[in-house]
Amino acid sequence: MPSPCSCNGTTEARLRCLRHRGRTFDVLASDDPDGFAIFGRYPKGFLAHVVKSQYLGRNVTREDILHVCSGTLSESERWTVDIRAEACPWVQASGTALPFRDASFMAVMLDPPYSDEYARNLYKLENPRPSWLLKEAARVVRPGGRVGILHVAVAFAPPACRLVKVYGISTGVGFRIRALTVYEKAQSDLPGFTCAPS
Ligand SMILES: C[S@@+](CC[C@H](N)C(=O)[O-])C[C@H]1O[C@@H](n2cnc3c(N)ncnc32)[C@H](O)[C@@H]1O
Repeated sequence: MPSPCSCNGTTEARLRCLRHRGRTFDVLASDDPDGFAIFGRYPKGFLAHVVKSQYLGRNVTREDILHVCSGTLSESERWTVDIRAEACPWVQASGTALPFRDASFMAVMLDPPYSDEYARNLYKLENPRPSWLLKEAARVVRPGGRVGILHVAVAFAPPACRLVKVYGISTGVGFRIRALTVYEKAQSDLPGFTCAPS
């Protein structure tokens, strides 16, 4: 899709352009095949909207969310995990092998690179498979807790989880759309509770 903006979509022009500069993207991919990168920070106000809309659960606050593939979020969020030291995360680790106990977080948000090319070109990394990230997120979230992932694909629900809803996320007309997919981990059986035969 060509850039709808007068900056023509070139990297140099986008860096000068009032519409593109610093608005939603922290990274501009010089070899983006469309000349129109979207893959940087979350859109402005995105996390506030997710919490206010209770997408990750009714009583979940920003303080409760573990952010995996956190990028720049370590500046503002409490629990952040990224594989790159440059991102200054709370914990530097791969989202595919989290150093946390099972069921230790109220909610998890994932924002991995969206393709092998982006992982390589923007971060010089192998692209972690969404299914592996989701499996780990599902392990560390508490029973009844939710996992959200922002991606261009909608992945199958990880083990012991159900897909709750898919939301379209865009920064406006002329911009691409991503999917915020939300999963919920099943409640474990209450200890000592058995169904009485009727
Ligand atoms: C799209 S950016 C996240 C941007 C973030 N949402 C923000 O608002 O700044 C993707 C991040 O995933 C990280 N990443 C890539 N592979 C990873 C892995 N296996 N484990 C953890 N983080 C990874 C990259 O270092 C990069 O910071």
